[in-house]
Amino acid sequence: DEVSLKKVFIGSVDQGTTSTRFLIFDGTGTPVASHQIEFKQIYPQPGWIEHDPNEIFESVEACIEEATKTFVGNGHSISDIKAIGLTTQRETTVLWDGETGETIHTAIAWPDTRTQSIVRELKQRKGAEKLQDICGLPLSTYPSALKLTWLFRNSEKVRETYNEGRLMFGTIDTWLLFKLNGGKERDIHVTDVTNASRTMFVNLHNLEYDPFVLDFFQLDSKKIKFPKVVPNSDAEAFGSIAVGPLKGKKIMGCIGDQSAALVGQLGFTPGKAKNTYGTGCFLLYNVGEKPVISKHGLLATVAFHFGGNRKPVYALEGSIAVAGSAVKFLQNNLGFFEASHKINDLAATVKDNGGCVFVTAFSGLFAPYWIDDAKGTLFGLTQHTEKGHIARATLEATCFQTKAILEAMEKDSGHRLSELAVDGGMSNSDLCMQVCLSLESPWEILINASEQQSQADIINIPVDRPTMRETTALGSAIVAGFAAGVWQEFEDLKKINSEDRMTFKPAISKTACDNLYAQWERAVEMSRGWLD
Ligand code: G3P
Repeated sequence: DEVSLKKVFIGSVDQGTTSTRFLIFDGTGTPVASHQIEFKQIYPQPGWIEHDPNEIFESVEACIEEATKTFVGNGHSISDIKAIGLTTQRETTVLWDGETGETIHTAIAWPDTRTQSIVRELKQRKGAEKLQDICGLPLSTYPSALKLTWLFRNSEKVRETYNEGRLMFGTIDTWLLFKLNGGKERDIHVTDVTNASRTMFVNLHNLEYDPFVLDFFQLDSKKIKFPKVVPNSDAEAFGSIAVGPLKGKKIMGCIGDQSAALVGQLGFTPGKAKNTYGTGCFLLYNVGEKPVISKHGLLATVAFHFGGNRKPVYALEGSIAVAGSAVKFLQNNLGFFEASHKINDLAATVKDNGGCVFVTAFSGLFAPYWIDDAKGTLFGLTQHTEKGHIARATLEATCFQTKAILEAMEKDSGHRLSELAVDGGMSNSDLCMQVCLSLESPWEILINASEQQSQADIINIPVDRPTMRETTALGSAIVAGFAAGVWQEFEDLKKINSEDRMTFKPAISKTACDNLYAQWERAVEMSRGWLD
């Protein structure tokens, strides 16, 4: 019951593209302590984005330390923490030496586009046309397989370690599980099905490494060690925390962050969908127990797998590489404002985009376009253009891409969604959500978060405050909590986040929306063809 659920806790590490968090939830899904740290984005060349895997691990340790301090300071007891869950950014590729446990290169982060020319080359290689049916992903700069190929070609140390049979491959989840377990001492080398499905190496239909794909990428699996693929919820496979205030606590859940958000939004049944407006923006649509291979530019991916007698559940995904990171770009590179939420005030200084369209293709364009050689491009500038117009155009870029994804999803799935749950940093902005919704019309968006009061243009909208918007971290707490026996059935979760949701409805006419979208589509065409 509610009273006893308030006395059990689950810790959740949420390691995202730009920051790391640790939250402690009670059994009702309420966070009771948290800590967040931003870490360094390394941009060695245009289009390159790297992370330091050691810094990431240190940020996890520091977040655990601080949040646990708060937890204890609030009168709770560490012995009531029943399990730890881990959720991570996906695709980002880490390599380490199996003998020493030391990394042998900085991690190549998922939005990095250095593999553009490799993608062009591999598209011509025999068998390329078979890949998407096997692993659900199109050949692009996005999956880990391309990043690994680049590392082989460009790092002597990587080749040496491979030739000596000591090369360990992992995504951030695998790396953190290895490190949280104390590194070489226990030598845990596992990944979960959702992260594994983003590497390109795993067959989506049987969830095993696929010999054809490994062959295609010319990898000898005797020389490189791939992590064991396990379901998201498992009491044994992920080991336990080796040091620090949570020493000995078992890690019972591990899941990619976008899947975690779907779980945190309770998107357990086919037809449920969520869109997370974070660093990037990712729309996941639950398609049930069989993967649907997209014909319209979406990805097929594992949504979640709770293990035991349960079957894996799949999703169609629309991935947008740049969302919140474009807001950061206006802040850090162009100095438009001092804190990201200020974009709303700036965008609100003008009534529309003033003819300005910003294709924020900093990583090429992902779904549904897959234009690797697109570059960020700003169109429609006149002497009338102010910063406010550019701010608005920046928010609209994510909305236009979401609209394109929704159209693709409708074509792939055969029906139109009636409802979309949203979360992530940008969804805090009423203005952004209102703009998105208007452009994504005729969708209704259920806002799972908002700290601001509604703007005048959305006054007719029923507004309810949400209870909780850390859905990604909640998702990883849920998969861990299932393995720990805190919850047994999805039904047990139905109260979580069910109250105080907020609904926005489209506020501009269909014609106005169509005109804006036509301008966007034209701008997308013009952003193509910027070869490195
Ligand atoms: O595929 C990349 C994704 O997992 C990153 O998510 O929330 O850090 O933008 P986020």
